[in-house]
Amino acid sequence: MSKILVTGGTGYIGSHTVVELHHAGYTPIIIDNLSNSNLQILDQIEKIIGVKPEFHQFDLCDEAKVLEFVKNNTDIQGIIHFAASKAVGESVEKPLKYYRNNMFSLINLLQAYQGKKIDFVFSSSCTVYGEPDVLPVTEAAPVKKATSPYGNTKQIAEEILAETAEANANYQVIALRYFNPVGAHESALIGELPLGVPQNLLPFITQTAIGKREKLTVFGGDYDTVDGSCVRDYIHVVDLAKAHVAAIRLLEKGNPNGKYDVFNIGTGKGYSVLEAIAAFEKASGQKLNYSVGPRREGDVVQVWGDVNKSASGLGWQASLGIDDMMSSAWAWEKYLSENPIG
Ligand code: UD1
Repeated sequence: MSKILVTGGTGYIGSHTVVELHHAGYTPIIIDNLSNSNLQILDQIEKIIGVKPEFHQFDLCDEAKVLEFVKNNTDIQGIIHFAASKAVGESVEKPLKYYRNNMFSLINLLQAYQGKKIDFVFSSSCTVYGEPDVLPVTEAAPVKKATSPYGNTKQIAEEILAETAEANANYQVIALRYFNPVGAHESALIGELPLGVPQNLLPFITQTAIGKREKLTVFGGDYDTVDGSCVRDYIHVVDLAKAHVAAIRLLEKGNPNGKYDVFNIGTGKGYSVLEAIAAFEKASGQKLNYSVGPRREGDVVQVWGDVNKSASGLGWQASLGIDDMMSSAWAWEKYLSENPIG
């Protein structure tokens, strides 16, 4: 059974990917510094898959620890690298934290595996497209100047990975550009665990519905979109997790498209914020307290992905729709209210 290193494996997308790797017959091994996750997630994963994944707690910015791990774990076949800081607003206030965490960890990992054969899957983001000129946006669209240090770390990481794959005969890399990950595992045992006040739409919606937040503000109702609110391509986190398994499989066979490749991971369909709220209300049976407020600075107006390349190249496509995204996010929020984590 191939061992796959999952950095950030106790995080939101990481934990779901650990589950899907196990179901696909891989042995996931987690490294996480728990800076934005919780040790209890390992127990939750065990409840789903019946085994507790191997876990190493350390910070990937610690080069000595990374080298030691690599020395002691010579049978890792692939790496899925999630571990990173991800709050757009915080990155504007603390750019160096973002460049340090997101770049040092990546460089330490790549350096430690130099000379070894490794398949590497990177979590990138549709944020690299900025405000796209053409919708749906394809992987060939230009990478726009990043509007936040967070976004810039994703762009720089993609460049580092492309150049490193080119320069090292044994490296193969796939960067997955996620659209907006939402939802939770069907068991409601794992899901998104935002630190403090959520910045992202879905946890804010579910926390408002459960009574943790008083009211949701829709950021802007006067955009030139279907109903004036921003449009995003929401993707169920379990579908997203499966895309990582598909990427590992493609790298195992050898990607005919080359040593470095990128794929959009979305559904290919856009929903406005107001449509997402309506879908939540329908799926949960809850009336949401919300009002339309001013625009949020830096928001992209609308973006959704062209997912043809991931369908043909990865053999992957999303199978869960907006109803599943909303009902699973709601089930998770209700589970958390009775079984707090952290
Ligand atoms: C942003 C980043 C994305 C990053 C993600 C992680 C950009 C362009 N995108 O996604 O790369 O991975 O954050 O945090 O930088 N909204 C409300 N009210 C709220 C919260 C959100 O109306 O209280 C709206 C936003 O205006 C947006 C949509 O909901 O239209 C989704 O917002 P959010 O979940 O924050 O994700 P993005 O901004 O799309």
